[in-house]
Amino acid sequence: MSRGRRKIAVIGAGNVGATCAFVLAQKKLGDIVMLDIYEGFAKGKALDMSQDGQVLNYDGNITGTANYEDISDSDVVVVTSGFPRQPGMSREDLIGKNAEIIKQVGEGIKKHAPNSVVIMVTNPLDLMTYHMWKVTGFPKERIIGQAGVLDSARMTHFVAKEVGCNEEDVQAMVLGGHGDTMVPLPRYTTCGGIPITQLLDEETIDAISKRTAGGGGEIVKLLERGSAFYAPGSAAAIMAESVLNDRKRLIPASAYLNGEYGLNDIFIGVPIILGANGVEKIIELELTENELGSLQGSANFYKSQLTDILGY
Ligand code: NAI
Ligand code: 2OP
Repeated sequence: MSRGRRKIAVIGAGNVGATCAFVLAQKKLGDIVMLDIYEGFAKGKALDMSQDGQVLNYDGNITGTANYEDISDSDVVVVTSGFPRQPGMSREDLIGKNAEIIKQVGEGIKKHAPNSVVIMVTNPLDLMTYHMWKVTGFPKERIIGQAGVLDSARMTHFVAKEVGCNEEDVQAMVLGGHGDTMVPLPRYTTCGGIPITQLLDEETIDAISKRTAGGGGEIVKLLERGSAFYAPGSAAAIMAESVLNDRKRLIPASAYLNGEYGLNDIFIGVPIILGANGVEKIIELELTENELGSLQGSANFYKSQLTDILGY
């Protein structure tokens, strides 16, 4: 017998959290509860979104709260609470402040939604995902970081523009940490199944890879206050959908590695299969020496921060 509508908690009702909730509502995936330290902020956004229910034809309840009891028994929790970057800041500049927030949020999730799959968004993404894993003590499969869907979508956009084709026909693959060390993989990026290495010259591909790696910073600079949220919020919602509907999407995401790619005890972006149980499989791509070196370099950068700054 069905246990009724699914429940999704979105922690942080700011730009990314509210966008994610809005996409989830339109996909009719279940009841949504937004939690923020500012109760009125979460409640106000929930009421506004609820009043859009008839206009956009979605169902399910959307509520706002500051109380962790209200996220009880959520199937999926998307964590977006935390400070975003301002111009001139790197994602790593956010570590101290956001680690405190994630500790508080992780304890709430552990107590009230102990069986949930957690999708992390807060930056610096790979570090905060590891931190959440430690705070909750959840099995590694149930903690996943959103970065690769967004970074690959950015690369897809730039590739489609250069090739002059529809974005729908592009499949990009970006691995590594969600920061300047990320690893766009042109050999695994295709348009209609054709590797872009056969469609674009080396100089153009290098420029696309560079713009992808700096994609978040480009938007921070333009906005002058805060960071990107439409694509990030949607990317987190797509991951939640893959879990809730057991869609088994094969996507890059920050997952715990235990020997894969020669890496241990770290969350970093790799291709995974994402289903009802969270990370159901980690795919090990055949990489060139250079590609593997870049992925390991990215992982080592975050590993040293885990030890030096977060004390793990
Ligand atoms: P925002 O400032 O619009 O929203 C953050 C929300 O978190 C605020 O409403 C704030 O009140 C809430 N919050 C703060 N402390 C809290 C706590 N202890 N408990 C509950 N809620 C709390 O920021 P935005 O733009 O939504 O970004 C959120 C985070 O996501 C940032 O860390 C940002 O860097 C990150 N991000 C990550 C991306 C990724 O691809 N992984 C992409 C875009 C943003
Ligand atoms: C982004 O990539 C800042 O992580 C955020 O847009």
